[in-house]
Amino acid sequence: MTRAFLIDTDTASDDAVALIMAAHAPDVDIKAVTIVSGNVSVEQGTRNALYTLELCGVQDVPVYVGADRPLLREAERAEWFHGADGMGNQNYAAPKGQPAPGHAVPAIIETIKANPGIVLVTLGPLTNIALALAQAPEIAPLVSRCVVMGGTAWAVGNVTPAAEFNVWQDPEAAQIMFRSGLPVEMVGWELCRFGAGLTPDEMAQLRQMNTERGHFTIDCNQSAIEAIRVQSGAISLELPDPVAMAVAIDPTICTRKSRHAVEVETHSELTRGMTVIDQLDNAGDERNYPLWKPVLERANITVCWEIDVPRWKAMLVEALR
Ligand code: RIB
Ligand code: CA
Repeated sequence: MTRAFLIDTDTASDDAVALIMAAHAPDVDIKAVTIVSGNVSVEQGTRNALYTLELCGVQDVPVYVGADRPLLREAERAEWFHGADGMGNQNYAAPKGQPAPGHAVPAIIETIKANPGIVLVTLGPLTNIALALAQAPEIAPLVSRCVVMGGTAWAVGNVTPAAEFNVWQDPEAAQIMFRSGLPVEMVGWELCRFGAGLTPDEMAQLRQMNTERGHFTIDCNQSAIEAIRVQSGAISLELPDPVAMAVAIDPTICTRKSRHAVEVETHSELTRGMTVIDQLDNAGDERNYPLWKPVLERANITVCWEIDVPRWKAMLVEALR
């Protein structure tokens, strides 16, 4: 039985690998891909998504152009990490196809309404999702799973010490999404790090497969590999969006999870975009937590704390063969 997927992405190099994984998954039927401003401009993200889907031989998936900036804030790019084109400065040829007519936000609404039970996977800032929810809040219960690459459960951020890029870029949008009643499964940035990153040997094995998708994965992530080396001194390829896509494709990849109220910091510049997880269920405590009490009713967030790293990597390799 196929499962309908809707993928919202700010397509840069790790998003592209996540798209390949979804396109390769035998029981995943991608109904639409919607593009949001984030790593790169929405125009560049659209170009990157079209190119990647064509690389996979996917012809019939509409790609819609979405928000070109966050709800309230200025757009902040991650070209320092992903390269000017978001794809490791590989200067890939222009895609043959064009985006679908119409804006991503109505497309999200219509796609969800036409496919009740759809799996929504978000790989970028939540701007499109927030706009869709504002226009049509009735879509939230029609989504069976909303797998979000975003936030950090252990509060160690990548773009600031406190926040992960997707949530930091548009914290107001993320807060709308977390409070919407969508069945969110939060896959934080920490889950792609350390042992979950590809080692030099594992990258060499991908090269040795000598497949177009295998070479593409290493090539388009060259800027990311260098940025990780500069940031951490390690030669590793951390792939947050593909990890989230692995959880979307096979929920058992997430081996430890629990449900909590989650709030997003939107006022402080120091902790802007921090995903604050009520791990100890303070919201349910009558004593001194009035701020958290109203959040309790929205404790509809499943936080993923651990993944099965060998199975995540096996799924990635299988998609790139
Ligand atoms: O923080 C990691 C996230 O930000 C990933 O989705 C990456 O593509 C960037 O968008
Ligand atoms: Ca992304």
